[in-house]
Amino acid sequence: MKSRDRFLAALACRPLERPPLWVMRQAGRYLPEYRALKAKSSFLEMVKTPALAAEVTLQPLKRFPGLDAAILFSDILVIPEALGQPYAFRETGGIQMAYRLETRAQIDALAPAEAVPERLAYVGDALRLLKKEVAATGHALLGFGGSPWTLATYMLEGGSSDDFARAKLLFHTDRPAFDALLEKLTAALVSYFRMQIAAGADAIQIFDSWGGILAGPDYEAASLTWIRRIVAALPPGFPVILYAKGTAPHLAAQAASGVRAISVDWTCDLATVRAALPAGLALQGNLDPVLMTTTPEIVRAQATRLLESVRGRPGHIFNLGHGITPDAKIECMQALVDTVTTFR
Ligand code: CP3
Repeated sequence: MKSRDRFLAALACRPLERPPLWVMRQAGRYLPEYRALKAKSSFLEMVKTPALAAEVTLQPLKRFPGLDAAILFSDILVIPEALGQPYAFRETGGIQMAYRLETRAQIDALAPAEAVPERLAYVGDALRLLKKEVAATGHALLGFGGSPWTLATYMLEGGSSDDFARAKLLFHTDRPAFDALLEKLTAALVSYFRMQIAAGADAIQIFDSWGGILAGPDYEAASLTWIRRIVAALPPGFPVILYAKGTAPHLAAQAASGVRAISVDWTCDLATVRAALPAGLALQGNLDPVLMTTTPEIVRAQATRLLESVRGRPGHIFNLGHGITPDAKIECMQALVDTVTTFR
């Protein structure tokens, strides 16, 4: 069976011999071939050069042909950058935005959402290059973006944050300004995702990496409502996967948001989540990424335990509970690929 067919069948919750497999941030620092390219070009140069972005995207598939999907090599923060707020990486790790959004005037001065497809044309170009390559290898191709709330945290905090106090403060003290920012991000993401779909993405994953830091009662108004709007504005039936870290209490609301699949972090019990989700919704996850730094034996045992826990339940896409880390071991990744692809 072709990887792309397996991936789309899992998203449609059709029964399969074994689940498809891909991992988040598979184009990462754990691969020597990625580090070799990065020694010559910066991360953002690679992201903005379609031929390089396509090459990095394909690196993990060349090393591990058993992976079923390629995820575009890019970053969620290209959207703030296209709206006029560039970013860089801190020496100490984490993100540093060029400035912090502090006033309503700054929010209003961001570029209009309509500017996004043109400013991010390099993403469409990279996807079109990739579409040709994966048509030959049979892999599925994923596009992605951040959720409006997760992007807003970086924009309002001025980068990575420990407490997200500024983003939460704006939500509680100036809702009109908060809504203006989230509305702009929502519109930008809708045109960005439409562009990715037109360029050949088979599915889109939305990363709500910081949905879980919100107070429970605020999750709907600060995050999920904007995600729902995005999904409603995409072609009917187009598969959207929602990864929202640390948001297990909101599973039922997420399941009713219009997305096709829910991707859960490693703290969730996969079988319990499966039982709670409607049968027509796919479930993605959720091996603890830290296991990829242990041994092949441990990875095999834990991946098998996870596979067994949802055996016979259609609609499982095997993934890590978060992105793969730079210290992941290649032999652990190989063990994961072998375990999932030979599972029956
Ligand atoms: O899975 C993939 O390889 C697809 C490409 C992808 C990247 N980032 C490439 C990347 C995806 C899907 C992302 C998503 C992303 N980016 C998120 C959401 C997912 C999550 O992790 O919760 C977030 C929050 C970002 C912003 C971002 N970009 C962070 C926080 C970092 C790490 C900064 C640090 O401390 O080093 C990045 C860098 C980044 N994005 C790398 C890659 C491959 C590492 C770049 C490098 O150092 O070589």
